[in-house]
Amino acid sequence: MTLFSPKTAVVEREGWDGEAKGLAHLVDGQLDTRHGAILYLEEVCVSFDGFKALNHLNLDIGVGELRCIIGPNGAGKTTMMDVITGKTRPDSGAVFFGQTIDLTRYREAEIAQLGIGRKFQKPTVFEAMTVFENLQLALAGPRSVWASLRARLTGEQRDRIEALLLRVRLQEQRHRVAGLLSHGQKQWLEIGMLLAQDPRLLLLDEPVAGMTDAETEKTAELLLSLKGHHSLMVVEHDMAFVEAIAERVTVLAEGSVLAEGSLAQVQADERVIEVYLGR
Ligand SMILES: Nc1ncnc2c1ncn2[C@@H]1O[C@H](COP(=O)(O)OP(=O)(O)O)[C@@H](O)[C@H]1O
Ligand SMILES: [Mg+2]
Repeated sequence: MTLFSPKTAVVEREGWDGEAKGLAHLVDGQLDTRHGAILYLEEVCVSFDGFKALNHLNLDIGVGELRCIIGPNGAGKTTMMDVITGKTRPDSGAVFFGQTIDLTRYREAEIAQLGIGRKFQKPTVFEAMTVFENLQLALAGPRSVWASLRARLTGEQRDRIEALLLRVRLQEQRHRVAGLLSHGQKQWLEIGMLLAQDPRLLLLDEPVAGMTDAETEKTAELLLSLKGHHSLMVVEHDMAFVEAIAERVTVLAEGSVLAEGSLAQVQADERVIEVYLGR
C-alpha cells in the first residue's frame, strides 16, 4: 500500500480522475467566479400550497467560504438546499453557480456532477462494506458497484483514498464494516465520500445532530480544514458548533434572510432574538 503523500492531498485537483464526470469538465471550463462568489440566489420564491417556504430569498456564498445558516424550524433552510441541488424547482428567482451556470436548468444528478455535493442529515453509507470500499466506490463515481470494487486500483487512486481516510480521520477504521461505525464516524465517512467527488460547493444539513461532544469538536476541525479548498454551506442548530466554525452567519426566517454578520452580531440583533423567542 502506498503511503500517504501530501502531494496527493484530497483538495488538489491535479491527481483527480474526472473520467466519468462529463459535466465536471464543463464546469472546469465554465465556472466563472471572477466576482468572488460561487453561488448566487436572487429573489427565490418557493410555495407549497400557497405557503411561502422561500420568500424572495437573496444570498450569495464566496469562493472558499464556510457559511453557516441558522434560523428557527420551518425557516426554509432545507428548502433552500433543495432548490440549490435541483430537488425543488423555484417558482421564481435565479439560482446561479458561478456567474454563468443557471442551476434551475439542470436535474439533480447533473447538479451533483457540476460539483455541488450535499450531505443529508441521515448518513447514507453502504453499511455492509468497509470504510475503504465505501471510499473506493465514491471515487469511482456512477459506475456499477461490482465493476468498481473489482477494478484494480491505481497507485494514484490508493493515494487519494489514503488522503481521504486521513482527512476524515478514519485511517484506523479503514477495514471496518461501515455498519459498525459510530454515528459520528458514519457522518465523517459520508463527508469523505462527498469529498471523493471533489465538489466545489458542499452543502451540509445539520451535520452534528446526534453527535457526542467529542465528535462535534472533531467535525468542527474537519470542516475548518476544508474551508478555502471547497466552499461550504452549513445549516446547524448547535450554537457551540456554529461558534467554533463560523465567520459569517446568515439567519433565515420565514423564507428570507433576516440578518447576516458574525455570530455575535446576529445574536445581538433584536429581530433575531424575536424570531428565536417566537414573539
Ligand atoms: N415538500 C413540502 N411540501 C409542503 N410543505 C413543505 C415541503 N417542504 C417544506 N415544507 C414547508 O416549508 C417550510 C420550510 O421548511 P424547511 O425548508 O424544511 O425548513 P427548515 O429546514 O428551516 O426547518 C415548513 O413550513 C415546511 O413545513
Ligand atoms: Mg431543515
